[in-house]
Formats: sequence, C-alpha cells, structure tokens
Amino acid sequence: MTQTTPDATSTELLHAADPADAPWWRDAVIYQIYPRSWADSDGDGIGDLPGITARLPYLRDLGVDAIWLSPFYVSPMNDAGYDVADYRDIDPVFGSLSDADLLISTAHGLGLKVLVDLVPNHSSSEHEWFKAALAAGPGSPERARYIFREGKGPGGEEPPNNWPSVFGGEGWTRVTEADGTPGEWYLHIFDTTQPDYDWNNPEVGDEFASILEFWCDRGVDGFRVDVAHGLVKEDGLPDWHGPIQLLDASDMSAEAALPPSHEESARIHETGAGPRPPMWDQDGVHDIYRRWRAVLDAQPAPDRILCAEAWVKPESRLAKYVRSDEMHQAFNFDFLDTHWAAGPLRESITTSFRENDNVGAPTTWVLSNHDVVRHASRLGLDQSLPRPNGISADRAQPDAELGLRRARAATMLMLGLPGSSYVYQGEELGLPESTDMPHEFRQDPTFHRTEGKEIGRDGCRVPIPWVRDAPSLGFGPSDATWLPQPDSYGAYAVDQQAGVEGSTLELYRSLLATRRADRMGLGSASWHPLSGGDVVAVVNASGDGARQTLVLVNLGADAVALPEGATVTHASGPLAEDGMVPTDVAVWARL
Ligand code: GLC
Ligand code: MG
Repeated sequence: MTQTTPDATSTELLHAADPADAPWWRDAVIYQIYPRSWADSDGDGIGDLPGITARLPYLRDLGVDAIWLSPFYVSPMNDAGYDVADYRDIDPVFGSLSDADLLISTAHGLGLKVLVDLVPNHSSSEHEWFKAALAAGPGSPERARYIFREGKGPGGEEPPNNWPSVFGGEGWTRVTEADGTPGEWYLHIFDTTQPDYDWNNPEVGDEFASILEFWCDRGVDGFRVDVAHGLVKEDGLPDWHGPIQLLDASDMSAEAALPPSHEESARIHETGAGPRPPMWDQDGVHDIYRRWRAVLDAQPAPDRILCAEAWVKPESRLAKYVRSDEMHQAFNFDFLDTHWAAGPLRESITTSFRENDNVGAPTTWVLSNHDVVRHASRLGLDQSLPRPNGISADRAQPDAELGLRRARAATMLMLGLPGSSYVYQGEELGLPESTDMPHEFRQDPTFHRTEGKEIGRDGCRVPIPWVRDAPSLGFGPSDATWLPQPDSYGAYAVDQQAGVEGSTLELYRSLLATRRADRMGLGSASWHPLSGGDVVAVVNASGDGARQTLVLVNLGADAVALPEGATVTHASGPLAEDGMVPTDVAVWARL
C-alpha cells in the first residue's frame, strides 16, 4: 500500500449511501460455484450442470443474489477448466449447451443472476487456434494469435526471456516444427498447455467480443474475467527479476524473487513505470475493457456486468479497471489478503472505499475462492506468516476451532459492509480446507510444476458435503469424488446445519436475510467511535439515516462493551454474560 492511512479512526463518512434504485450489481451477494465440486448428478465423481440446476433452490434459500460459475467449457482440464479448448461449448463432463440454457433459465426463475467465467489471457493448447498455429509454422497469421518467438543463444536453445510460469518452471515452451527440427518458443504465463494470446492482434479482440455476445445471447448476466491484468505484455517482453505476484503473499514462484537487475532498474527509472512486472497490469489492458463495456452496454438488457480478477496493487491502480467505461467490479484481494489484525483491516476498508468511490464503482469484498486456502482454515494459521499456497499433512496445521471462530466474525464484517460480496461455495458451512490430502490425489499443476514445493489449490476444491450419511456425503449418487473428502467433512454437511440454531449455515442465512431486508449493501459507512486499537467498528446506515447498524469485530484480548441502547441482532459467537463482545467475535447491532 503506498498511501498510509492514520490508524486513528473518526466518525467521518467513509462511504456515502447508494440510491435505493441502484443497479443490482452495486450490492449483490454473488456465490461462486466451482462446477467440478458442487453437485454431481450422474455419479461420475465430478460435479456437473444438471447437478447445479437441481440444487439452485438451496441458493435461493441461502439468500444470495447471483451465482458465478467457474469455467464449464470444453477443456482437457489441465488447469481444472481454466484451459479452454472451445469457448462456445460445454465440456461433456459438465453436460451440454442445453443443460447450460436450463441452468440459466432455472436460476432466473428463482431470481438469481448468472455470471460465467471468461478466460481471455490464454487458451488451451487443444484449442483449434493453437493447433492451427503449431501446424502453420513460423511467421504465419495462425502463429500471430499467440506469442511465439525465436529462442536466444546458439540455435535458439534458450527461452526468449527469463519469465517464469506462475505455476513454477519456465514460462516458455519450445515447439518442434513440422520438419522435426526444434523451433520457436511460445509464452505461457501458466501451464505449458495454456498458451498466452497476443492481444496486439486485432483478431483476438474480435474473437472475444464475439464470445461475449454469444453468452449474452444465451442470457448470462455477466462475466468474471480471469487474469484481467495479464492480457497485455510490455513491449519487447523485457526480462524481469522481481516476484511475479499473481497470488500475492506466498507467490507461486517465490524463488523468482530476486532484486531487479541493473537494466531493469534503469528501465523503471526511465519509463517511470514503477516496479511493475512486464506481464501484469500494463496500461493497454484498459482499451480492451472499454471495448467490452461497449459490447455489454449495447445489449438489449444493458445491466450485464464484468468483474476483474486482477491481482493489482496499489488499490488506486486496481480502481482503474472499474472506471465508469470499463468493468463494473474487481475482486478486492487486498481485503482477502489482510491478516487478522484490526489496524490492517481498517486500513484495507478505508482504502477500498476511497479508491472505488473515486471512480464511482462499488467496493467488493471477498474472503475465499478456488485459488486460496479457505478462510476458516487460513485464519487459524499463524497470522505473522504469509498466506500459504495450500496446506499438506507435513506442514503447519491450522487451529480449526480458532479458524472457524474468526471466519464467522470475518464474514459478519464482510457482509455488514456496503458494496458487493463474493461467497465461495462451502464457506457458508464453515468448511475448512482439506489439509491432509495424500499427494497422489493432487491435480493442481502448481504442485507438479514445483515438484511439490507449492502444495497448490486442491485443498479448497474438495466436493461439498450435503448429507452426512450418504455416499460422497450427498455430493452425488455414487461414492466417487474427483478429490477425496476428509473424514471431518461429514459434520459440516448441509443436512447437519440446516435449521440448527447457531450453525454457520443458519448464521449466513440470517445475515443475508437482514442484509437484504435492510438494504445494507446500499448503505453508507462511517467509523464508530469504538473503532481503534483492536476493534473494527463500522456504522452502516440507510441513505435517509433512519436505520443505523453497528458492525463490530473485536480482535483484541479484552472483551468490548457495546454502546448503551445498542440492540444486538446477530453475533458470530456467544457474548459474555454481561453482554460484552469477546475476542474474535463480531456483532451486528441496531443503534
Ligand atoms: C486465475 C484462476 C486460476 C487459474 C489461473 C489461470 O487465477 O482463478 O484458477 O489457474 O487464472 O487461468
Ligand atoms: Mg458428474
């Protein structure tokens, strides 16, 4: 963070209320479904679209406004579907286009909007375009859709630059040309099977505009844009010696974190570009999003949205993605990455409102997704260490009880703040990470490409437990699950929590119901005088000031007394007998 905010808080307005008729996405709670792991209809152990459709009423009852589906497109699944071979069709493992149509119309019938995942940085190596590029050879228009270059050194044996892959290993792979000789190299910021597009080529832009239209025509309400900060690379593809910072704290290629070279420092100095890796957050990406915004705004129902997955710092740079003629939302990874400490949380909240309000965008909030350790486990780890990329049996284990206690409090803070929130499947059950999965089951390319140094993301992608005493915990009709479910998951199953007072599921339902009834997502925010030290305390008020809700979390050792007359409506854990708020507990209270 470049700008520092004084730690002391004031009652000054942090964020002004939205009008009551604000568009749906300004305060939507959006539930992320990871299709492989949510609900399996056919017993093959992999979740699918008919499975999702059948269970949508659960989400209506949970009280969310929209779903976002991680990729369901045709894919060899080398990165769980983030390696797309056909953007206009469904992978048979998930179903068919008519299953997608039924899913979308069923969701709409239940009052749920549907966002789909768009993966524009790279295709799969099985995509027709990439196959054609390999076949057509150097210098062809087919190759010009991707980033092919001659290698360096004698015989072109060295990769064109030193960029690593985010998943470990080199960021370039050399191809064998049609005549059997070693040929050009292609860039892949992720797995070898995920070649990066060349977004300088207008054909790529046209293709993606057409893909957006294809899914708009099928009725989707928006797109979550994968690696939105990566599409444009710095001209000349210069070497880079710093961290590549995709997933921040514990970067997947931490070993690449060397100090900048002499040339690099000079370049940074000359261009004033700042120490920004040449593969991320280049200014040229914004033209792409302006074009997409125009595509969406030209639709018959112009309330469709774009949400950026952009691991960009500082937040003032992230805010550029949500200027009024670009995307509508960007994930707030700064909030997700903030340790369980009151000062940093207050600072993240202040900065998030300030930077988004500067450009007129709603702030989003998120604590978990399919790429990070689930917050019920993350918050049970030593908070002085960076967030790990996965947990295995031989590494430090989270304190499950502490993690859940804090996770419930963190969720109450998130859902109590104005803006739009993202909820990752299973977090409403307080589901922990799978932390002892035997390595032979691991599928994340990160684990394999780093030879196990990085554990990777499989632990947050385990199939959801629905029914304790059923095969695959009710995930599907058979025992099969593509990743093993830990023994502990039975106790978290939906049927164990539904209707049970004090369960995490009932807490989410009740929070979401109140948030909706009180339109808290459109409220204003200001610090309450209790905020400061180890306490985060925000007043969320309706635009007319008639309703004022105190959202308070105590992260300190001593219990905190609530203001006189405050009526607690929700608490993440039991309060002390005298009504004080104990350590790691959050409350919502009417003032
Ligand atoms: C994004 C996705 C992640 C994927 C990567 C490459 O970060 O969230 O799951 O591996 O992009 O597409
Ligand atoms: Mg299935």
